[in-house]
Amino acid sequence: STTFTLHYGSMIINESISPGKNLLELIHSLPSVNIDAPCGGKGTCGKCRVRIIEGEASPVSDAEKKFLSAADIKKGIRLACKTLPEGSVTVVLEDSMHNAKIMESGGLPYTGRLNPLLKKKVMNLPPASLEDQRSLETRLLQALPEGSVLDHRIRLKLAELQQKEQYEMTLSFCDTTITNLTPGSDMTPSYALAVDIGTTTVVAYLVNLSTGQMMGTASGLNTQKSFGADVISRIDYIGDDKEKLSQLQQRICSQIEELASKTLKAAGLNEEDLMAVFAAGNTTMMHILQGLSPQTIARAPFIPVSTEAMILKPSEIASQLPDHVRFVLLPSLSGYIGADIVAGILSTEIAESEDLCLLVDIGTNGEIAMGNKDSLTSCSTAAGPAFEGANIQCGVGGIPGAISSFRSDGNSFSFETIDDKPVSGICGSGIIDLTAYLLKAGLVDFTGRFQDESDWRNNPPASKDSLINKDGEIRFVWENKEDSLYFTQKDLREVQLAKGSIGAGIATLVKESGHSLDDIKKVYLAGGFGSYIDHQSALAIGLLPQELQGRIHCVGNSCGAGVIRCALNRDEMEKTKMILNKTKYIELSSNKGFQEEYMLNMYFPEYD
Ligand code: FES
Repeated sequence: STTFTLHYGSMIINESISPGKNLLELIHSLPSVNIDAPCGGKGTCGKCRVRIIEGEASPVSDAEKKFLSAADIKKGIRLACKTLPEGSVTVVLEDSMHNAKIMESGGLPYTGRLNPLLKKKVMNLPPASLEDQRSLETRLLQALPEGSVLDHRIRLKLAELQQKEQYEMTLSFCDTTITNLTPGSDMTPSYALAVDIGTTTVVAYLVNLSTGQMMGTASGLNTQKSFGADVISRIDYIGDDKEKLSQLQQRICSQIEELASKTLKAAGLNEEDLMAVFAAGNTTMMHILQGLSPQTIARAPFIPVSTEAMILKPSEIASQLPDHVRFVLLPSLSGYIGADIVAGILSTEIAESEDLCLLVDIGTNGEIAMGNKDSLTSCSTAAGPAFEGANIQCGVGGIPGAISSFRSDGNSFSFETIDDKPVSGICGSGIIDLTAYLLKAGLVDFTGRFQDESDWRNNPPASKDSLINKDGEIRFVWENKEDSLYFTQKDLREVQLAKGSIGAGIATLVKESGHSLDDIKKVYLAGGFGSYIDHQSALAIGLLPQELQGRIHCVGNSCGAGVIRCALNRDEMEKTKMILNKTKYIELSSNKGFQEEYMLNMYFPEYD
């Protein structure tokens, strides 16, 4: 038999090889391994690099040659999705994703009252007697508010208490459902995990339900990331295959379990102390978590299976968390305005504001909501993964060493990397700064075209040395690393597509709601990425309209903050219904005005 051996960080994993599977598919079958594969295995991103150190594989394909230099090929570097093993093979995969910088700060803090959906109550039932022949279950339910329910698991626990003639007990409730029963009185605090399931990152906050105190946070890159950078590539991966859906569902469930165990352990607690997991994410992430096929979200008319708020048992979603834990899922609005945006609207209090506010969450989709206490409008634009570093040749996610900011004094420029580590590539905020620099320095015109050599001759730019012609393509090079630090015309086009779609989304919402940009009093820039970008650069490249200058506020993880609110106060969970009722969703793919705006917004603002 043939064996696939993977060296991954400090791990060495052996698997027998199923014939016909490429290296990416083999890596996908290993639950604890993450590989960067933004295009989901189509061979178009060039990021799924592995190194073969032993054994034979299919010849290097033309698709790979586009991304691999001769030196790479000599070292045994291959694209996993384009390489078929020929016999036993040993492969090294650098775990570049494990220390990504993830925005954990939980958005605007919640200072309202505590009234959690999950509560504990001590009951002291009168002992059984000849005079009172009611069953223990009947006596318990009659002593509780009407509508209280219990399931057979709790009934079995009651049986144990009856045997011991113990009538004092602590009940845990999720709303009116008894979720746990322990003997005696135990009013120690209980805890909930509030989870923001992003397409790229997953962030969890452990909160004390009795005090509202934040006990700890933990985060990681979404372990489904190996199956594609954006929701569409994950939906593509799943196709009609139930096993693949359950594979991705398992991934997110295990990741939530891991984040729960990490935060509980750090706080000196254990799984018994956890009463609930509150979660929000985009509609596709919510579908995958629930094991619902997201297929129809990807094709017109983009209808999800369910957008309801939901309370589920761990066993209903393949989670290994103890039976007493409940998953409380926030509702979504539509296929592309998910529970994450509903949570963001909740935490920024836009739906209660007198002023007109704009919420922009920039990820692979740009989700935008605008409104005030009277009404809200929302839309989602496919920004593509450019700002996450994907589809950009030297692009990376927010990992140590990623260039996160770019500064220029007119003559020269400098940059900073995450954690001051040696350069590993350029991430979203750096890409926006760099684009702003190229525009200001006149190296790129408003149509997004790099100056060519004749332009340099007639009108030499300040830093022409940094533009080179490489095999007929103009690229901007810095640090004299023309093969490893560069930004190409194609990269710039990706930025134009991304910024064009977000700018057009904002313009369309403003128009459709009958307002003008001047009416907007506050702009909330949400999400990890939103918090790192330089406002001036975002305005300079036209990602945000110039008119909004001075009104932009970064709100960190607004989704996480909304989920925390729901965990601490059931009234906040109720408010999500009010948000859904008030919010109109505009489908941009069929909106004529959007197409026109999109063409216009592809251009950059002009500079003198
Ligand atoms: Fe292999 Fe994109 S090129 S995953």
